[in-house]
Amino acid sequence: MNLDEVLAEIDAFLGCETPQAWVDEALKQQEILLIDHANCEKKAATTAMNLLYKHIDREDLLKKMSQLAREELLHFEQVVNIMKDRGITYRHVSSSRYAAGMRDAVRKGGVPELIDILIVGAFIEARSCERFAKIAPYLDKQLEKFYRSLLRSEGRHYKDYLTLAQQYSDEPIEARVAFFQQLERELIESPDADFRFHSGVPTAA
Ligand SMILES: [Fe+2]
Ligand SMILES: [Fe+2]
Repeated sequence: MNLDEVLAEIDAFLGCETPQAWVDEALKQQEILLIDHANCEKKAATTAMNLLYKHIDREDLLKKMSQLAREELLHFEQVVNIMKDRGITYRHVSSSRYAAGMRDAVRKGGVPELIDILIVGAFIEARSCERFAKIAPYLDKQLEKFYRSLLRSEGRHYKDYLTLAQQYSDEPIEARVAFFQQLERELIESPDADFRFHSGVPTAA
């Protein structure tokens, strides 16, 4: 698959496009964008590490999540370097409602919990990829190049999560995917007072 095909698949997987109002706000709040982006990379690595601890009997998961955690930490280092170049101090920025909103809907216990966590992972990766692609053309050369460089790996992460969810589920996952697609869409398209990498439509700034 070439990159355009990956992006087309991701657009079809997601229930909506990132609203232009988010892009406009992101351009005004690039410092928060980068700090929250750094946080997201750390959290992505943590999610993968948690799965590594919990599912030691699932060989493909161990392989994919170990690789993913390493890549996310590499991205983290890259974002921190860019922040340093720009004189941005890494300070505490609270999490957005996005990932928590998705995680709250995860079924508790056993295989259903694993399947939901993997599907949520697929959506978070897919949305990240879609946002990097969407905002890249508006950014300065360094940041544009960096965000474009992330598309390939985030596209692969989305695919890895979705493939593992299909592989480990005893039943078709389409209904759960549709459920999370709808939830994710609400989080992206509804008003959101806190601008973050995965926030909704910014309320009047
Ligand atoms: Fe990443
Ligand atoms: Fe990722």
